Order: sequence, then C-alpha cells, then structure tokens
Amino acid sequence: MRLAGKTALITGAARGIGFEFARAYIAEGATVALADINAAALNKAVAELGPKAIPVQMDVTAQDSIDAGFASVIDRLGHLDILINNAALFSAAPIAEITRADYDKLFAVNVAGTLFTMQAAARHMIPRGSGTIINMASQAGRRGEGLVAVYCATKAAVISLTQSAGLDLIRHGINVNAIAPGVVDGEHWDGVDAFFAKYEGKAPGQKKREVGEAVPFGRMGTAQDLTGMAIFLATPEAKYIVAQCFGVDGGNWMA
Ligand SMILES: NC(=O)c1ccc[n+]([C@@H]2O[C@H](COP(=O)([O-])OP(=O)(O)OC[C@H]3O[C@@H](n4cnc5c(N)ncnc54)[C@H](O)[C@@H]3O)[C@@H](O)[C@H]2O)c1
Repeated sequence: MRLAGKTALITGAARGIGFEFARAYIAEGATVALADINAAALNKAVAELGPKAIPVQMDVTAQDSIDAGFASVIDRLGHLDILINNAALFSAAPIAEITRADYDKLFAVNVAGTLFTMQAAARHMIPRGSGTIINMASQAGRRGEGLVAVYCATKAAVISLTQSAGLDLIRHGINVNAIAPGVVDGEHWDGVDAFFAKYEGKAPGQKKREVGEAVPFGRMGTAQDLTGMAIFLATPEAKYIVAQCFGVDGGNWMA
C-alpha cells in the first residue's frame, strides 16, 4: 500500500499501459481518475477496476476539456497528488510521405497534450507545495527512426518538457520525471506492426516478433513491466529525483 490515500489522474488510461498503471496504483491504495477520449473503452476500464477508479472523459488536445476534466477530478477527489501524462498517438511514414495533418495531430496529443495537462496539474499542485508528475516518453525520443520521424520528435519533446518542467516545478515541491519504455506489447503495438507491414512489406506479426527478439532481455515488454517504476516515482523515496527520464526497456537503450 505504498500509495495509500493518494489521488492520481492518468491520461490515456482506457487501455494499454495507462490502464495497467491505474490497476497497479489502485492495488497500492490510490484512488485513480482514468482520463481518456474514448468513452466506451473508458467505461469498460472503470467497470473492471471497481470503485476506486473514476472515469473522466477528456481530450488532451482541447483546453476546455482539460480544464473541465481537472475541475471534475478535484471536485470528486478533493485534491490531486499524481499526474501521469500517458495519452499518445503513433504514426509512421517515410519522410517523403509525412502529411502536415498527421504531424499536427501527433504534436497536438503527444506534446501540447502533455504540456497543458502538466500545466493544469501544476496550477493545482503549486499552492499545495507538493506533487508528482510522470510523463510517458519512449526510447523513440532518444534517437531517430527512419519511418517514425514525427512520433520520435514528439517523444524527444516530451523528454525536453520533462527537463524544463522538472527544473521549474521542483521549487514548489513537485517532482517531474519521465519513463521511456522500449517496445511494449498490446493494442498500440498491433497498430505499429501494421504500419511496418505496410512500409517494409512484412507479414502481420513479423515486426513484433523481430523487435521482441532484438530486446537484450529476450522479449517485448508488458505494461506490467513498467508499473514498478510508475509506483516508485510517486513515493517519498523518489523525492530527490528531478527532471530525469528512465528507460524501462529490457536493455534496448543506454541513456
Ligand atoms: N506500447 C509501446 O510499445 C510504447 C513504447 C514506448 C512508449 N509508449 C508510450 O506509452 C504510452 C502508452 O502507450 P500504450 O501502448 O498504452 O498506447 P495505447 O495506444 O494503447 O493507449 C493510448 C490511449 O490514449 C488515448 N488517447 C488518444 N488520444 C487521446 C486524447 N486526445 N485525449 C485523451 N486520450 C487520448 C487512447 O484512446 C488510448 O486509450 C504512450 O505515451 C506511448 O507513446 C508506448
């Protein structure tokens, strides 16, 4: 019960990694607001997690949606201790085929969504003099990838925002850090696999198999592989950790 009595808001929590974070946080005693744009998936997720899970329909690209979501969470939970900025989109295309619409969409969710959700949390946490913010980066933010320019750039921006916000907000007792997963199996990677099937002519499932075999640990990650870091960063033991990005990737990348 390392998070007993704590309240958390996790964006993009209707499925995948965010959902597992919500489950793990609740198991550690927290009450968790799951925020997502997908109402149907959100309701299903909350029903599975029980009474300590609260649904918040939120589009992190829309300021009024962020504001309304935070207002309803504070109203229902009284205060917010932890924010996990987890919502994101992925896309892939060769440089010559990237569209401006795709670029705008990914930067709106992955970068502006992270910044302005972090800002909403900071405005609430600054007067309280404490808080934890965890941003979901990626190994993709550490280096480029031939077919993944836009997503990689958004995740590099998330690492940069984590550094700047971490340095600004620690004055107020708010710890901002990031987690950089490697390749994590789930619905997200089903989509990634489909992109590579299209651009590299691979059979469905082939790219997943290849990236899993290439991980030094010997397999793709699971969302459960990431929960330990997400819990630890929200405990008092992590209070002296500021503006860092932690790889949890089976050895894929050495920062
Ligand atoms: N799965 C991986 O291999 C992997 C690797 C590195 C980093 N990550 C990062 O981890 C995080 C979670 O990844 P995942 O695999 O669980 O992804 P996912 O695609 O399974 O889940 C993302 C969630 O975000 C929600 N979302 C999308 N747009 C939104 C918006 N505008 N407002 C609110 N919610 C929105 C979706 O509805 C979905 O529920 C992401 O930030 C991702 O970039 C994932």
